[in-house]
Amino acid sequence: MRRRTFLGLLAAGAGLTRIAPAADTALLVAEMTLEEKLGQLAMLSADYAVTGPTVAGDVSGELRAGRVGSLFNLWGREAIRAAQRIAVEETRLGIPLFFALDILHGFRTIFPIPLAEAAAFDPALWEETARAAAVEAIAAGVDLTFAPMLDVARDPRWGRIAEGPGEDPCVADRFATAKVRGYQGSGLAATPKHFAAYGASAAGRDYAAVDISERALAEIYLPPFRAAIDAGALALMPAFTDLAGVPLTANRALLTDTLRTDWGFDGVVISDYNAIAELTRHGVAADTAEAAALALRAGVDIDMMSRAYRDGLPVALDRGLVTLAEIDTAVARVLALKARLGLFADPFRRAGPVEPAPPPRALARAAAARGLTLLTNRGDTLPIETPPARLALIGPLADAPADMLGPWAGAGRPDEAVALLPALRDVWPDARIDHVPAVPIAGGEPARIEAGLAAAVAAATRADHVLLCLGEAASMSGEAASRAHLSLPGQQQALADAVLATGKPVVLLLFSGRPLILPDLFDRAAATVACWFPGSEAGPGIADLLTGRVAPSARLPVTWPRAEGQIPIAYAARPGGRPENRNDHYTSKYIDLPNSPQFAFGHGLSTTSFTMTDPAAEGTGPITARTTVANAGRRAGTATVFLFLHDPVSIISRPTLELRRFTQVTLAPGERREVAFTLARDDFAALDAALRPAVEPGAFDLHLGFSADPAALRTIRVTVA
Ligand code: GLC
Repeated sequence: MRRRTFLGLLAAGAGLTRIAPAADTALLVAEMTLEEKLGQLAMLSADYAVTGPTVAGDVSGELRAGRVGSLFNLWGREAIRAAQRIAVEETRLGIPLFFALDILHGFRTIFPIPLAEAAAFDPALWEETARAAAVEAIAAGVDLTFAPMLDVARDPRWGRIAEGPGEDPCVADRFATAKVRGYQGSGLAATPKHFAAYGASAAGRDYAAVDISERALAEIYLPPFRAAIDAGALALMPAFTDLAGVPLTANRALLTDTLRTDWGFDGVVISDYNAIAELTRHGVAADTAEAAALALRAGVDIDMMSRAYRDGLPVALDRGLVTLAEIDTAVARVLALKARLGLFADPFRRAGPVEPAPPPRALARAAAARGLTLLTNRGDTLPIETPPARLALIGPLADAPADMLGPWAGAGRPDEAVALLPALRDVWPDARIDHVPAVPIAGGEPARIEAGLAAAVAAATRADHVLLCLGEAASMSGEAASRAHLSLPGQQQALADAVLATGKPVVLLLFSGRPLILPDLFDRAAATVACWFPGSEAGPGIADLLTGRVAPSARLPVTWPRAEGQIPIAYAARPGGRPENRNDHYTSKYIDLPNSPQFAFGHGLSTTSFTMTDPAAEGTGPITARTTVANAGRRAGTATVFLFLHDPVSIISRPTLELRRFTQVTLAPGERREVAFTLARDDFAALDAALRPAVEPGAFDLHLGFSADPAALRTIRVTVA
C-alpha cells in the first residue's frame, strides 16, 4: 500500500479523545523498518529553549532520515511547518511529527507559577489558565505540553516545589483534574509529571534518591496522577529519581502494573530528559543496550534526548534483552497518540496560517492577584487607599520583569512582562516614586552595596510609604535549584535591616518559588505579601492588591517553616506516641524552636475579618457538615473554608488532619452565608494494613477552619455507620 494510504487509515477525528483503530496502527507498524520504528520512539529538542544538560543541535538530518518521531522546545507555525514538511514529504512513510513544550503556567502570556496558582484554591481558575495557555500554544503549532507537574512537595529546599500544587494530595488531585481538562479540552495533550514521588528526593536535593513508605506513596504521591489519568491525560512522564532503589524510568511496577494494568492508562510514556541513558549512572544498567531494554520493558515509549533507544535497542534485540513485539507496542502507542492529535488527518493542522487570539492579559492580571498571599498586615497597613505623595520603591525585584515570569516560562518574553515599577507609575501617576534597587539579588561589590544601602535609607526616610521588593531570582527556583539556606540571597537581609531601621512602616513584597526563612522580618515589617513569581502581569496584579482594587484571597498551599531545621514539614502529620508538649520534656519537640510553622497550610489574610459559627453535621455516611461564615469587617473579602478529617482511633495511626474539601466564599461587609460540605462514605476511607481502601465505622472528627492552624479549628464529632 502506498504511504498515503497508511496515513489515511490512521486519520482520526480532530478531537483528542478518539484513537485510531488498533488494526490501522498495526498495519503501519508492520510496514516499518526497525530504524523507522526506533525513529518514532526518539524525541529531540530543537533548542528554542534549553531545558536539559545536552542540546541536539541541527536535527534536520535526523528528521530527513526518519529517525525522529517528535520534537520539543520548538514553536511558531513557520518553524513547525518547516520541520513537519521534512517529516511528511521527505521520509519514506511520511509519518508526521508531534511538537511538545513545557507549558506549566502559560505559553507566551505567563500566569503565576503553579505554586502561586495553587494558593488561589480555585479549580475553575486552574482550568481557565490552562485553557488560555493551550489556545496560545496551539496557535504556535504545539501539540503537547509536559504539564501539569503534580509532584506533592513538603520540602522547600527543593527548587521544583515552585512547579507544583504544594503539599496536599487533595489539592493536587483537584489541580490535576482541572489542568488536564483545561489543556486537553482545548486540544493540547497533557503529560502529568514526574511520576512519582519526585518531591520527596533526599535532603531536598534535586534528582536525589527517594525512600518513602509504600503507604506514603499510595496516600500522598500517587493520587494526583491517578486523578490526571482518570481525567484522560494522553501522556505521562516518569521522574528522574529512583524509588527505593528502582529508577522510575525502569520501574515496571509503576509504569506498567500500576499505570496501565490497574489504572487503565492507554497513552504514551515519555522519558524525562536523557533519563534512559542515565540508568547507567543509577547503576542499574551496565551499558546503553541494558538501559534501553530496562526502560522499554518498564513501559517507557519515547526516549527524550538520550538516543539510548536508537543506539541501544538494536543491540538489546541481538542480545535477546527485548523482543521486536515490545518495540512494536511502543511504536503503536506513539502512532495512536499522533492519530488522537489528528496529525494523520492533517499534519499541518497547526502549522497553517492562523489569526492569533488576543493575549489573555486580563486573565493573567487577575490570576496574578489571586496568588498573592497576604501573610502579615499589622494595623491594616494594606490596602493603601490614599495614593502616596512620595513612595520609596526599594529592592532588586521592584523592576525585574524577567524574574517576574519565574521558572519554566515557556515562550514568555520579559519585554512583555510588566514589573511593579511601571504598574505603580500607572496606578499612582501623581506619586513621586523613588525607585532604588539598592543591591543585586545576589553578589555585588561591597562599595556599591554600601552606596545602595545608603540610597535606600535616604529614599525610605523621605517617603511616606515604603515598599521593599526582595527575594529570589527566577533562576534560583525550579529544576536543579535546590537551596540549603532559605534566607534572602545576597545582601538583601542587610538592605531590609537598613530600611527597617529608619522606623518607617515597610511593606515587604517577597518574590520566590518557595517559602523563605525570614523569621525576624515578619515581625518587623508592617505587612508582608508572598508574591511568588506572578507572571506577565505581575506589576498590575500586585498594584491591584496594594490599592485595594482586588482583595487578597490567596491561602498558603504549603506550610511555611520557621527554620530549615523543621523541614520536611507539612500539616498532615501523625501524632506519634509523645506529641509535642512544651511542658513535658519527653515529647516530640525541638529544644530551640516551637514545632509550629511560621505560617500554617491555608494561612492567608484578607483586608477584612471573617467568623465561623454554628458548626454542625448530620447523617452517618454520607455526612453533611455545615457552618456559617460571616464577614465581620468593613471591606468585601473572600474566605477559604477547609474541611479536614481525623479518625481518632484506627487500625493504622492517622495524621491528625487530612484535607477532604475546600471552597471559597466571597462576602460583602456584614454578609453571612452557610457553607456545607457533603462527605460520601468513601471520603472516610483510609488504606488498611494491606493498603486497600477501607472505611472503619465509628467516630470521626471533622474540623472546619480557615487554615490548618489547630488553634482555630471548629471540631464536630460524627459517627460513620
Ligand atoms: C527537564 C524536566 C522536565 C521537562 C523536560 C523537558 O529536565 O525534568 O520537567 O519536561 O526536561 O524540558
